[in-house]
Amino acid sequence: MKVGLLCSILRKEEKLLLEEFRSRGVAPEIVDDRELIFRLDSSHLDFDVVLERSVNHSRALYSLKVLNDWGILTVNSYPVAETCGNKFLTSSALLRNRIPTPRTVMAFTPKSALKAIEELGYPVVLKPAVGSWGRLLSKINDREAAEAVLEHKDILGSYQHSVFYIQEYVPKSGRDIRSFVVGDETICAIYRYSSHWITNTARGGRAENCPVTPEIDRLSQAAARAVGGGVLAVDLFESESGFQVNEVNYTMEFRNSIHTTGVDIPARIVDYVLNAGAERQSGSEGHP
Ligand SMILES: Nc1ncnc2c1ncn2[C@@H]1O[C@H](COP(=O)(O)OP(=O)(O)O)[C@@H](O)[C@H]1O
Ligand SMILES: [Mg+2]
Repeated sequence: MKVGLLCSILRKEEKLLLEEFRSRGVAPEIVDDRELIFRLDSSHLDFDVVLERSVNHSRALYSLKVLNDWGILTVNSYPVAETCGNKFLTSSALLRNRIPTPRTVMAFTPKSALKAIEELGYPVVLKPAVGSWGRLLSKINDREAAEAVLEHKDILGSYQHSVFYIQEYVPKSGRDIRSFVVGDETICAIYRYSSHWITNTARGGRAENCPVTPEIDRLSQAAARAVGGGVLAVDLFESESGFQVNEVNYTMEFRNSIHTTGVDIPARIVDYVLNAGAERQSGSEGHP
């Protein structure tokens, strides 16, 4: 089977995935997005399946689009990356599928954004529509802070910051949950503990095993399905009114979650990719 690994730098995750592929006798061809040239008028790559592990959202997005247009199966697909890479599109997919998620509003000018924030009530969280690792998130506790952040975004911000994604702040008891979905299964989950309101492990959040309860399983799978399915990580909040899905990630990091959960996450991903590739080879419908 011809397997491609689309990536930039090889993080711990990509190294573990490569090791896992090799232990199955598969040697993925590394497609380095820093050197990649797509000649759009000719389909010049030939793979049964490509696993996307780029660190860069726009490179991943465009590459997946080209590969899918050429009929190449990718994990994950372009539509999934498009939805998960943009918080507006994720919220919209979750809401369309009636999945509980924090109240979110969008506005396009600092004036309307301030009005929206005051209507939602403090504290609120402002997020860039496209972003990860908890970067450029603002928790806004009062009107003065709102005015300051909105003015900074308006005057100093790039295009991405000219639309305002505003969310109610969901109080948490020092932790939230990250679950991992591979195909039709929630394979494991972690609690992310932090004394900071931003709990990303990339920002110092501490991982602990979180048992996958039927409720976490159901919601994680529903969230994964809502964005198109595949290999995904779901951020969950334990709110007063029950679990809420915060977002779904399409090129997840998992280095801190293997020992913590006792689940061999790279092995499960490789199983999924090889199965999808085999299905495609045998001519049956794969998961595009
Ligand atoms: N509405 C919110 N209420 C409380 N905490 C939040 C909220 N939104 C985000 N956070 C915290 O910030 C972290 C990062 O936010 P997230 O929306 O997942 O963005 P990123 O894509 O950067 O991970 C979350 O895991 C959570 O700990
Ligand atoms: Mg997140």
